[in-house]
Amino acid sequence: MQTFDAVVIGAGAAGLFCAGIAGQRGLRVLLVDHAEKLAEKIRISGGGRCNFTNREAGPANFLSANPHFCRSALARYTAHDFIALVQRHRIAFHEKHKGQLFCDGSSDEIVAMLVRECEQGGVTRWQPCAVEAIRRAGKTFELDTDRGPVRSAQVVIATGGLSIPKIGASDFGYRIARQFGHRIVETRPALVPLTFDAAAWTPFTPLAGLSLPARVETGEGRTRGQFLEDLLFTHRGLSGPAILQISTYWRPGEPIRLDLAPELDLRAALRAAKTLSRRQLGNELAEILPRRLAETWLADQPDLADRPLPEVRDRDLERLSSELERWELTPSGTEGYRKAEVTAGGVDTRALSSQSMESQHQGGLYFIGEVVDVTGWLGGYNFQWAWASAAACAGALQAARG
Ligand code: FDA
Repeated sequence: MQTFDAVVIGAGAAGLFCAGIAGQRGLRVLLVDHAEKLAEKIRISGGGRCNFTNREAGPANFLSANPHFCRSALARYTAHDFIALVQRHRIAFHEKHKGQLFCDGSSDEIVAMLVRECEQGGVTRWQPCAVEAIRRAGKTFELDTDRGPVRSAQVVIATGGLSIPKIGASDFGYRIARQFGHRIVETRPALVPLTFDAAAWTPFTPLAGLSLPARVETGEGRTRGQFLEDLLFTHRGLSGPAILQISTYWRPGEPIRLDLAPELDLRAALRAAKTLSRRQLGNELAEILPRRLAETWLADQPDLADRPLPEVRDRDLERLSSELERWELTPSGTEGYRKAEVTAGGVDTRALSSQSMESQHQGGLYFIGEVVDVTGWLGGYNFQWAWASAAACAGALQAARG
């Protein structure tokens, strides 16, 4: 039986990074992945340009049942550490928006960089290769794989979440976690468009394709999320960065609240218009907001839309402003794992070491990346968690342990 110091299962962002560091520290590392193609999620990320980190990444940008868990790893391996690595590999990049860093060229450069790091560490990679079972055998683990049995004192689970099953996502990591006595914080699609009942959404279908800045919020207290980003109307509901962000905080049955005019004082603008203009309210609103939104919003109130502004009662202006600034609506669901960028929930961090990602139930077993219950905002944060948790784990792995 072949023996390694560490077997890393999942050659995605976290697995490749962890294997490379551990290999360069002198460990004999086997990296195994069941997918035909290497690191597809990195390749398709960021629209093909991989938003590989966020300059501002910190614990406040992550959601978890145990919010402090991610602190240590994020502090010990920061966005600046990853930027330095990218620069060492001479990959050109730029900042797009709110600290988000993208490759100038393509995501393939990040994959190639991670592969070079693994090669420098002499990492053995078996791909495609499925792991059928993992057992504890004395002080080591035995793994049954497509390419025969393997023995290792340390096993790192880096198999990611459930999103985009067609490119290799599986529930393997959660199954192994349960096998070794771990709890799973309920998983759900996140960074995903929200959908609405067809009948309730019909009045808004003419808005499909419209994008505008909006403030969106949901939840209360510790579970409250709030973002100011672009909102996109779709045929089935809402999408765009504002909605992807809030989807991670949204819980079924709960409403979301939208301010469709976050960058102006709508009340004041309408009142001022009333004193200055004799235009119809509908036409004035279409100057202040996108025309399609104004028309659709007033479509079922033609009397109000056609009324000259000086004849519109203040309280109608007040009501209209409130409706647009505090539009409350309850999604019926999400577009699911098929469209979700990440999976929220996962291996409960309360039984993992925040220093090393090692299981407190089973020494030598580690969980890193998205399989863990740490979910980042949209904007490079999820990759930063993959890098940081991988670095924490790789630093703790030991050569010829046990
Ligand atoms: P990842 O999913 O990268 O890797 C898991 C690996 O495990 C896969 O290679 C899979 O084949 C393998 N695997 C699964 N089951 C297995 C099994 N049973 N046996 C063997 N191997 C198995 N994030 C970000 O920060 N910036 C961005 O720009 C984007 N953009 C983006 C776009 C899209 C379309 C998606 C779907 C996601 C993003 N993300 C993102 C999220 C980001 O891709 C994600 O959080 C990380 O890839 C997670 O890294 P992991 O290594 O944990 O899992």
